[in-house]
Amino acid sequence: MRVILGVGGGIAAYKSCDLASKLVQAGHEVLTVMTESATRFVGPLTFRALTGNPVGVRSMDEPMGPVSHVKMARWAEMLVIAPLTQNLLARLSLGLSSDLLSLIFQGYLGPSVVAPAMESEMWLSPQTQARLEDLKKDRVISVVGPNDGRLASGQSGPGRMAEPHEIMNAMWALTRPKTLQNRVILITAGPTWEHFDPVRILTNPSTGTIGLILARELTARGAHVILIHGPRVEEPLCSGVEYQEVVSAQEMLEAVESRIGEADTLIGAAAVSDFRPASPFSEKQKKRQLDLMWPMAVNPDIMAEMGTRYHDSKILIGFAAETDNVLAQAQEKLQRKHLDAIVANQVGRHRGFGKSDYEARIILKGDGPGNFQSVSKDELASHVADLLSVLRPKIGGNSRSPL
Ligand code: C5P
Repeated sequence: MRVILGVGGGIAAYKSCDLASKLVQAGHEVLTVMTESATRFVGPLTFRALTGNPVGVRSMDEPMGPVSHVKMARWAEMLVIAPLTQNLLARLSLGLSSDLLSLIFQGYLGPSVVAPAMESEMWLSPQTQARLEDLKKDRVISVVGPNDGRLASGQSGPGRMAEPHEIMNAMWALTRPKTLQNRVILITAGPTWEHFDPVRILTNPSTGTIGLILARELTARGAHVILIHGPRVEEPLCSGVEYQEVVSAQEMLEAVESRIGEADTLIGAAAVSDFRPASPFSEKQKKRQLDLMWPMAVNPDIMAEMGTRYHDSKILIGFAAETDNVLAQAQEKLQRKHLDAIVANQVGRHRGFGKSDYEARIILKGDGPGNFQSVSKDELASHVADLLSVLRPKIGGNSRSPL
């Protein structure tokens, strides 16, 4: 993407160097425009070296030759302003064009990501908030952060500039088609832990990655996502997703039961333990006391349960991770659990878990035999989002629907 990186004059400008470098590494072409005060925090040469492009500062600077501000406003596919200081925000929202960055901003019509950074009192002031509302009027602007934490003054509070990965995530999200607006999607993800005693568990190698990638994709497409996940699933800072952590299959079932009324769709991406120790101990058991035979109980099958209760009113998508006879087993689960679609995927000791790619196929109700496709988890999430975009919510699907 062709990106203009606007840098305001705050101490967080040093983090924009890292952002510039990461943008270039991700394949973007970056032109940096700094305010005069930003150059007192970081030298233009730093950005020139990191991006390989000239840096503009004053209104008359010509990083793109004569009338650079017009050429640059037309050239850019994305404008990122990080850090957005209070003064810069006020200038941009009032339409003042006293430097190259504000000149470009006034003529630029595309999407922007802004990352405010300032002291908490300044951020929370009604004037700042009013300027921000003005800035967003009639423009496609995503505001990332500011995050809570330690500020330049030594105090703690909201005001830290968002991290480069959050800014890049917001850029990516702006470019996704908004095909899932007004949809509410419940996702289960990750493993469950079934305790034998406080220090011993029955679990599986699931990392929750596909659930998290799905949450990110569906949120970027405009949906509201509620992600119910098992332990040790690292929640990325993907703004907008509602995360809820559970431990066991029973807890996951209860969480799904309590939230499904809000959703039009349930995606079961969790690797739920099929069994649990029948009578877990509340104290750690000594090794010599342990019996090698542990009586087990069967866990509830969340998707099967929800399929029985909600197949008329909710869109239900399951996952079937199998090592053999994958498509046939997935077809059988699709029918038995009353699902609308199932993602069949081949797993093995080194395949299917964590960040690895997938051998997968999305099977819809009524589909005949087909073949696997080798896809990344990002691509798979995008295919699932495409499918949900064409499947209309069922009547009475969620609490927001008219019936
Ligand atoms: O484990 P299995 O292959 O049967 O999983 C198929 C689908 O059912 C998946 O979507 C999984 O999340 C869901 N499932 C569940 N509760 C279980 C077992 C599986 O929701 N106890």
